[in-house]
Amino acid sequence: MFLSKEEEAMLKGDHGAGSQKAMELLVAIGEAFDAPKMIPVTRAHAASSGQEGDLFFVEMLAKGGARCKIPTTTNPVVNFEYFQNIIDISEEHAEASVAWKVKQHYKEIGAIMSQSCIPYLAENIPQYGEHVAFSESSATPYVNSVIGAFTNRESIQTALAAGVIGETPEFGLHLKENRKGTVLVKVKTHLRNGYDYSILGQYVGKKVGNGIPVFDGIGKRPSIDQYINLCAMLNVPGAIPMFYIPGFTVDAETLDDAFAGNHPQDVIEVTDRDMKQTIEELQTTSGDVDLVMLGCPHYNLDQLGVVAKLLDGKRLRPNVSVWINTSETTKTMADRAGYVKVLENAGANLVTDTCIDMFCFNNMKGKTGMTDSPKCAYYRRFGNVRVGSVEECIAAAVE
Ligand code: F3S
Repeated sequence: MFLSKEEEAMLKGDHGAGSQKAMELLVAIGEAFDAPKMIPVTRAHAASSGQEGDLFFVEMLAKGGARCKIPTTTNPVVNFEYFQNIIDISEEHAEASVAWKVKQHYKEIGAIMSQSCIPYLAENIPQYGEHVAFSESSATPYVNSVIGAFTNRESIQTALAAGVIGETPEFGLHLKENRKGTVLVKVKTHLRNGYDYSILGQYVGKKVGNGIPVFDGIGKRPSIDQYINLCAMLNVPGAIPMFYIPGFTVDAETLDDAFAGNHPQDVIEVTDRDMKQTIEELQTTSGDVDLVMLGCPHYNLDQLGVVAKLLDGKRLRPNVSVWINTSETTKTMADRAGYVKVLENAGANLVTDTCIDMFCFNNMKGKTGMTDSPKCAYYRRFGNVRVGSVEECIAAAVE
């Protein structure tokens, strides 16, 4: 791979040990994928987590003096202040945790502590045609397909390295010729709401595995939350960096535009029966629930408004809890809209800056949980799980 003099210098360690490690990773990835050179990126999103692998890399870079060169946002980890009052986590215990250390090192490295898994709506919004490095299941396809920026399906580490160097190897979806549809998906079911888009994503992600689906038969422009759900769930059982819905997503008015000369490798149909079967595969019970978990991916303002409307004037059933995950930015807006008061009056927990996969939720282990998110159903590992639309989730939780 061609490297400029400055890039060579970074690789040799002339700009510090942290930048050297970041460059080593990017060059190794570039060489593995036959990238001819590095190209500039203007923003990044690192899907930071409370996991050892994340700590290892961000700590190494931060201690080596690396600092983010371009705006680099972070995923939710744990809001320790919030959970200190709930699970009685001592400051000492918090500070010893991997999640705490991860957050400190991201601050040190100069990342933007957005702590949101939908940063492309508020804190870090790429423009059409911009080359970026975004990790996180919903972020990559949203950025490529809905916004029309260019990103590969990054890992936490490659996105952070790109944030530090301000460059990424030129391969994959940074090149127009690799952004052609590969599989035709004929949608023969009526998609009514965001939950249906989640189930569609789960089904198609599993069927396609790795590729660029082109959806035919979605007659209406999806709403933002429908797009987010489709993007996220395509990447739970699958590895889908982008997709097309001709007429609605970017750069394709027709099926021919989306395939751009490619012959579909496969044709998939999605029927009512497939949707029903997908739901049945996800859930392990239809019985009473102990808790409802919403906000995976983080709920946006509109979604919080929907839950507030559903819970307005209602009380939760005894021994049932409702947890809703969002970002601090969204909560501030929801507060101004009056939603937070309604949710809290009903007894719901509005949790900011936290991922459903974090240890602070461990007291839910073994319980029967209900969620509108196949991703949550998969990662949260409830004792038993039900899935349903947000309306069905709230109906199961209230008196
Ligand atoms: Fe977001 Fe964590 Fe779910 S990052 S998408 S809340 S698994």
